[in-house]
Amino acid sequence: EKGGYDYFMLKEIAEQPKAVADTLLGRIDAAGSLTLDEVRIPPGVLREVDKVVIVACGTAFHAGLIAKYAIEHWTRIPCEVELASEFRYRDPILDPQTLVIAISQSGETMDTLMALRHAREQGSKVLAICNTNGSTIPRESDAVLYTHAGPEVAVASTKAFLTQLVACYLVALYLGQVRGTKWGDEIRAVVRDLSQISGEVERVLGTMEPVRELARTLAHKNTVLFLGRHVGYPVALEGALKLKELAYMHAEGFAAGELKHGPIALIEEDLPVVVVVPSPRGRSVLHDKIVSNIQEIRARGARTIVIAEEGDEAVVPYADHLVRIPVTPTLLQPLVATVPLQVFACELATARGNEVDQPRNLAKSVTVE
Ligand code: F6R
Repeated sequence: EKGGYDYFMLKEIAEQPKAVADTLLGRIDAAGSLTLDEVRIPPGVLREVDKVVIVACGTAFHAGLIAKYAIEHWTRIPCEVELASEFRYRDPILDPQTLVIAISQSGETMDTLMALRHAREQGSKVLAICNTNGSTIPRESDAVLYTHAGPEVAVASTKAFLTQLVACYLVALYLGQVRGTKWGDEIRAVVRDLSQISGEVERVLGTMEPVRELARTLAHKNTVLFLGRHVGYPVALEGALKLKELAYMHAEGFAAGELKHGPIALIEEDLPVVVVVPSPRGRSVLHDKIVSNIQEIRARGARTIVIAEEGDEAVVPYADHLVRIPVTPTLLQPLVATVPLQVFACELATARGNEVDQPRNLAKSVTVE
C-alpha cells in the first residue's frame, strides 16, 4: 500500500502534484473565474465581511500564515491568524462580519474545533478547509472547502499542507472576485499560474537528489536554522517544524529581518542555515534584503543552504548549497519552496535512523486539548 516507497511520507510527498491538481479541479472555469459552489455563504454576506480570522494548529497554522498575505493583498480585508489553542482563551473580538476560517487536515483537532465553536457562538460565519469528508470540523462549520489530498497516513503533514495552501489561495481569490478589487488583472494572472502550478511541483520533485545527499551529510548536526521573508517566513517555520518532528533536531524558523534583533548571536562556524529566497522579480526589495542577510550570516561562518528561483544569480556567491525552484508569482512560491524542506527533513530522519511515518510522541490526529 506504500506503492513501492519505503515510507508513506515519501509516497505522499510524491503525490503532491496530483493532490494540488485535484484540489483545483472543477473550481476554476474556462474563463478563469472561481466557481466555489461549496462555499454556501452567500456572496452578499461575503461582501459584508470586514475581518478574516484564521485558526489552526501546527502545519495547518503555517498554511494560515501564508493565507494572510494572499487575503490581505488580494482583498484588502484585514486578516489575523492565530493558533487555535491560544485563540479561545483571550476573549477574541468576533462578530457577524467576521469570517473565521478553520484549517484542519483531520477535521478532528480538538483545539481547532473548540475555536470554531467559540466563533460561532459569537455569531461569526465559519468556513472550514478540511481534508476529511464528514469529519467534525466541517460538520460544525457554516461551509467547507475540501482539500483533495487523499488520505494522509504519515504523521508529518506534507501533501495536506500543499492542498491547504491551494484552498487558501482559492478562498482569497474568490473573496477578491466576489468583492471586486483593484487587483483584477493580477488575480486573473495568478489564477492562470495556479492552474499550472502542479506541473511546477512535479518539476521540483524531479530535482531533489542533491537535497537528499546534502541531508545525509548533516545527520550528525544538532541544530538547523531556517530563515525567510514575507511568505518565505512561514515556509521557514514549516521547514523547522518538519525537522523537529521527523529528525528530532533542534530547528528554528526566523523572519530574516529579525536576525539582527537576537538570533544572529546563534550563528557559529558551520551551522547549517536554510534560507528561502523570494523572487528577484516583483517585490525585489525583499530579495535584496535577504541577499544581505545571507551575506551577514555567511560572514559569521554559517553554512548557507539557499533555496532560490531559477535564474536568480545574485545569491550564487553566498550559497554553500543552492537549491533551485521554478519561477512562480511571489504569493504562490510556498507551493514549490516547501517541497525541498520536506525532502530534507525526511532524508535527515532516515539518516538518523528515525521512524519516518510514526515519529515518537506524536499522533496523526490530536483529539485532546
Ligand atoms: C505537522 C502536523 C501537525 C498538524 C496539526 C494540525 O506535520 O502534522 O502539526 O498539522 O496537528 O492537524 P490538523 O490539520 O489535522 O488539524
